[in-house]
Amino acid sequence: MSKVIVFANQKGGVGKTTTTVNIGAYMAEKGKKVLLVDFDPQGNLSSSLGISDTDEGIYEAMMGHITVHDVIRKTPQENLFLISSNLNLSGATVELNKVNKKESLHILKSTLEPVKKDYDYILIDCPPSLGVLTINGFVASDYVIIPLQCEYFALEGLKYMYSMTIKRVQKNLNPNLKIGGIIFTMYDSRTNLGKEVIKSVKNTFKQTPEILFPTVIPRNIRLSEAPSHGVPINMYDSSCIGAKCYEKLSQEVLERV
Ligand SMILES: Nc1ncnc2c1ncn2[C@@H]1O[C@H](COP(=O)(O)OP(=O)(O)OP(=O)(O)O)[C@@H](O)[C@H]1O
Ligand SMILES: [Mg+2]
Repeated sequence: MSKVIVFANQKGGVGKTTTTVNIGAYMAEKGKKVLLVDFDPQGNLSSSLGISDTDEGIYEAMMGHITVHDVIRKTPQENLFLISSNLNLSGATVELNKVNKKESLHILKSTLEPVKKDYDYILIDCPPSLGVLTINGFVASDYVIIPLQCEYFALEGLKYMYSMTIKRVQKNLNPNLKIGGIIFTMYDSRTNLGKEVIKSVKNTFKQTPEILFPTVIPRNIRLSEAPSHGVPINMYDSSCIGAKCYEKLSQEVLERV
């Protein structure tokens, strides 16, 4: 059975999608069979892999318009597969609120169930909110990984997501959900701010320092260029610092989950 990992942070633009696609790509390069699930109506994960304007994606599978087997696509990377997303998913929030509350939070989990045996890892990329979509992501997963941008407001919201939302999900909806860890992203070694943020996050988690992944992802222009070429960083520029760090990080994730 596959291990399911959700990448979440209610803050926008912190590197969730970049982290999901590149960790997935390196896992696949190491021979794991990986399914990426774009669970954000913006569809950034899909377009990062050169797939856009799809009218059959995760929303259509959740609503039963198409089987989950039929929405899985190949990507440019061998061993890496994708369930795309489109703007229809934004309407799901309204539709899910119409069904029985508990049932509405388990729809992603039950949608992915038939393909869980086919992959080593399923990685879910969430939208920047703690709404019904992200909660569905938590319910469907074994691990949550939190990308954290090395910027001033990074810690705001993190404490809430960690101590309120995740704890509540563990208690009421998915006792199996574990914290996979926190990943520092977009670190800029030329400024003191990044160092300060890392220091204060380390201080916040001083009782459980192992929660922080050792590899820090630096700010690297190549990482922001790769999506416009529709390929993950290993296929765009495998020698850049961003690629090296995501490769190392993917190894750390494989060792941990
Ligand atoms: N390490 C990095 N160095 C430079 N640019 C980066 C890095 N990581 C991500 N980016 C760029 O920053 C922007 C935001 O990253 P990304 O889309 O991965 O964040 P996100 O958390 O998924 O955003 P959203 O909340 O909108 O879904 C993108 O343009 C991306 O290419
Ligand atoms: Mg994103």
